[in-house]
Amino acid sequence: MQVEVREFKGTANYIVSEDLRNSVNVSTALGRPLLIKGEPGTGKTMLARSIAEGLGLDLIIWNIKSTTKAQDGLYVYDTVQRLYDSQFGDHNVSDISQYIKMGKLGEAFLSDKHIVLLIDEIDKADLEFPNDLLWELDMMSFYIPETGVTVTAKHRPIVIITSNAEKELPDAFLRRCIFHYINFPEPEMMARIINVHHPKLEDKLIREAMEAFYWIRSLSGLQKRPSTSELLDWVQALTVGGVSLEKIRKEVPLLGVLIKKNQDFDVILSRLNTQNANKTKTRSHILWG
Ligand SMILES: Nc1ncnc2c1ncn2[C@@H]1O[C@H](COP(=O)(O)OP(=O)(O)OP(=O)(O)O)[C@@H](O)[C@H]1O
Ligand SMILES: [Mg+2]
Repeated sequence: MQVEVREFKGTANYIVSEDLRNSVNVSTALGRPLLIKGEPGTGKTMLARSIAEGLGLDLIIWNIKSTTKAQDGLYVYDTVQRLYDSQFGDHNVSDISQYIKMGKLGEAFLSDKHIVLLIDEIDKADLEFPNDLLWELDMMSFYIPETGVTVTAKHRPIVIITSNAEKELPDAFLRRCIFHYINFPEPEMMARIINVHHPKLEDKLIREAMEAFYWIRSLSGLQKRPSTSELLDWVQALTVGGVSLEKIRKEVPLLGVLIKKNQDFDVILSRLNTQNANKTKTRSHILWG
């Protein structure tokens, strides 16, 4: 099995911190999966796309659901089709290999090229799921008893695993990964993220929107704090709606783009009323200290 090591330097459309870049490069150099945790919307999924793009590699995505089993990622033996063919078909069903369908991990192992494999949202599956993959991810290999074939990766894929920390992952699994927690972006980094998505926006609008956004995130009692992706949508909505800076400061308009829970609306609106009643002019101290 070949292990290729190339340096990931980031891409034009993904802002990567030095720490994260280092974690990516350490995990590829050691040939270990990189486990990425962080709040929703902090760019975990996009990191895998950026690595694939930055290194010029294909990306295979395995989206994990609550019902996903480790076996689904290896292969599925389509016994129903075989039975059907044996009764109604006219071709030879004794060759079982034609009924073996590779899952995403199998596909990644069989790839002729060095690829990036994203196992997205691993915490959605049950607790056994990560443990059931230990051997395959360590050895980059699995056995198909039905055909007697062992599938072994020709090129060790770069494996990126994301988790929203909904569940704790088993220790044996953690031990085999390089771990990185993506911190919520500081304002300076957030401004750069907005800039790559909306390069034409005025600095003043970005600043005003960010002040309101970080102010909202600083409020206690919110059930769901808005994330990067909601801020990106919000600045776009503000631009499309032609909303003035003054209005953003006083009203936080189009709040439904940022906030998704009824109770959070009430928290924000009542704090906004207090702020306006006290004629607090600026929230900039929250953003810039
Ligand atoms: N560092 C970044 N550089 C550029 N864009 C970013 C960055 N971080 C987040 N984004 C943008 O934020 C949005 C959300 O990113 P992404 O879907 O990767 O987040 P996530 O962490 O996977 O979220 P979830 O946990 O909900 O799946 C995307 O539109 C992405 O482009
Ligand atoms: Mg994601």
